[in-house]
Amino acid sequence: MPLFGKKEEPKVDYSRLPQHIAIIMDGNGRWAKSRGLPRTAGHAAGAETFRTIATYCREIGIKYLTVYAFSTENWKRPMEEVSAIMGLLKKYLLEAITDMEKEKVRFYFFGDLSPLPQELRQLCQETQTRSAGYTGCRVNICLNYGGRDEILRAARTFAGQCAAGEKKAEELTEADFSGYLWSAGIPDPDLVIRPSGEERISNFLLWQSAYAEFYFTDVNWPDFSKEELRRALAAYQSRSRRFGGV
Ligand code: FPP
Repeated sequence: MPLFGKKEEPKVDYSRLPQHIAIIMDGNGRWAKSRGLPRTAGHAAGAETFRTIATYCREIGIKYLTVYAFSTENWKRPMEEVSAIMGLLKKYLLEAITDMEKEKVRFYFFGDLSPLPQELRQLCQETQTRSAGYTGCRVNICLNYGGRDEILRAARTFAGQCAAGEKKAEELTEADFSGYLWSAGIPDPDLVIRPSGEERISNFLLWQSAYAEFYFTDVNWPDFSKEELRRALAAYQSRSRRFGGV
């Protein structure tokens, strides 16, 4: 209950944290609009929030963090906005490389990077390769990512292997299929967070979030704080996860 207008500090059990948190970083545009700023200022503020939250996740021991930075549908936005997001990603990655080496953070990209500006694409590939051997927190950045696109690509690859006689369709298991996705080899998200008051999945981790817990908040992403993350963690810990059982 709010005490004199202040929200109570959420109670988090740090020995029972989710392994994998996924976030739809939504509400940058509305945050900017409500301040009379251009949408790109919202993305710049959102990039800072990403830095704060990613650092905090690493500090408290979250093993996997996946964020939706740019979807396969986001190309429909005005060119200046797309360029601004690409520019922010480049700036962020260049800065992150130093931290990454210090903190042994692994960066990984989900999505087809081929349509990205060449410099950004190279930077993503280099960052991923350079950090591959690290053992710290793994941060997956979804860039030109779509859940349906991911599933379709996996199905095509598998169908191709069947046609070549390497695989048998009737032997495919869920675990095998997961291995064809960008997220191959990592656990599914336990907790999916969407700020900004929207309560949709928007083509994010469709296969992987089958049993995820969802946390929605009205706060726009640039205002999403460590305290808000603790609130999401406390909500997650209050749920009873049954995975279809009783
Ligand atoms: C959704 O808010 C946000 C995006 C499509 C872009 C997210 C990009 C960043 C936070 C910047 C760079 C990222 C990293 C990882 C450094 P919206 O624009 O749809 O907001 P609205 O719904 O209020 O318009």
